[in-house]
Amino acid sequence: MELKFILLLIINLIMLLSSTVTADQYVRPLPRKNLNIPWPWDSKSQPYPQQVHISLAGDRHMRITWITDDKHSPSFVEYGTLPGRYDSISEGEFTSYNYMLYSSGKIHHTVIGPLEYNTMYFYRCGGQGPEFKLKTPPSKFPITFAVAGDLGQTGWTKSTLDHIDQCKYDVYLLPGDLSYADCMQHLWDSFGRLVEPLASARPWMVTEGNHEEENIPLLTDEFVSYNSRWKMPFEESGSTSNLYYSFEVAGVHVIMLGSYADYDKYSEQYRWLKEDLSKVDRKRTPWLVVLFHVPWYNSNKAHQGAGDDMMTVMEPLLYAASVDLVLAGHVHAYERSKRVYNGRLDPCGAVHITIGDGGNREGLAHRYINPQPKWSEFREASFGHGELKIVNSTHAFWSWHRNDNDESIKADGIWITSLISSGCVDKNKHELRSMLMTP
Ligand SMILES: *[C@@H]1O[C@H](CO)[C@@H](O)[C@H](O)[C@H]1NC(C)=O
Repeated sequence: MELKFILLLIINLIMLLSSTVTADQYVRPLPRKNLNIPWPWDSKSQPYPQQVHISLAGDRHMRITWITDDKHSPSFVEYGTLPGRYDSISEGEFTSYNYMLYSSGKIHHTVIGPLEYNTMYFYRCGGQGPEFKLKTPPSKFPITFAVAGDLGQTGWTKSTLDHIDQCKYDVYLLPGDLSYADCMQHLWDSFGRLVEPLASARPWMVTEGNHEEENIPLLTDEFVSYNSRWKMPFEESGSTSNLYYSFEVAGVHVIMLGSYADYDKYSEQYRWLKEDLSKVDRKRTPWLVVLFHVPWYNSNKAHQGAGDDMMTVMEPLLYAASVDLVLAGHVHAYERSKRVYNGRLDPCGAVHITIGDGGNREGLAHRYINPQPKWSEFREASFGHGELKIVNSTHAFWSWHRNDNDESIKADGIWITSLISSGCVDKNKHELRSMLMTP
């Protein structure tokens, strides 16, 4: 017990030192403290499911994930469309991991379906504990996404989650940096309990940020906690890594890229991206949205230029593929670009949005490069969240909501028209075909 405590202390000290070095470059006032999320039960070893969250797992299927202390607890989910009446059951799989002296609970992943669209389901995990309720996304437009990266688990996180809970969203998109556990594994558990009320009710689709890496050379595997706890539909989308994958929902093809997986032209990720793009059918999914953690268009002084290498490799391909919208995190502030490509305004380029302002303990990034670049249309260092309402195949409304002393205030809003409606998809299709055919 003593030894464990000292080891944890040392790890924490190393993490603290490394984070202050980067944090020194910009002033981040008024962060809020980590919340203390208590165990829901007095005794630690209850068989009841906890940290329940759900994610899309292929057309009309949903993956239910939960954790039990009891290693004998089964991995099935009972579900149905009426409360307390479960006419279907699915059997799943389970995993667990060790990290230094920490041993995780039993992590269950069970895929349920086929499910009806836009329908409320009631479900129970492992045959015991409370009933949960989820709503499946619609089959066609309109669909609403909630977006916020760099969440953490502070008082600001709680504020952001409350606001997201108030908006009627179908799917949550998280462009990296979830728990800010930073090697303190029990913080993954408290994060799981903090987000459960939302994440057990609507699919949460996430990609990794630097805080998921948690790599202690020679001692731990990279991303072991993240990959074990937040399994995403990578197998369902032909990817070999949980660090990048794609999914389709209601006329939108969403690609989740990995800023922390190899992305050069000869990498597995790049190869997979080309294969995934070759499957996109803009008649079926008129909108193409991409997420990753480190922004390519960022006029904040924080993490300036950090996304340049990935951008050099991948931006031409995403441009040829007529990506409508790119969502990123990492910088703890909000910024929205005009349509841009290769640093210049371009009507066929993507709108880039940095939204790393979910509320983590490191606070905000306040210092901007001046004058504001031509491509940058709106920037502000406040905590908040975004809402993307895709109305039909041509129109979407994007809005950003600031946490104004815990009140949600709409501070930015704009109509975005799709690249299929402006002729860009047609204009670039030969270029795309030749890029996809280049080995
Ligand atoms: C799409 O939605 C926009 C905004 O509500 C509307 O102006 C437009 O007419 C709609 N287009 C179609 C094809 O329904």
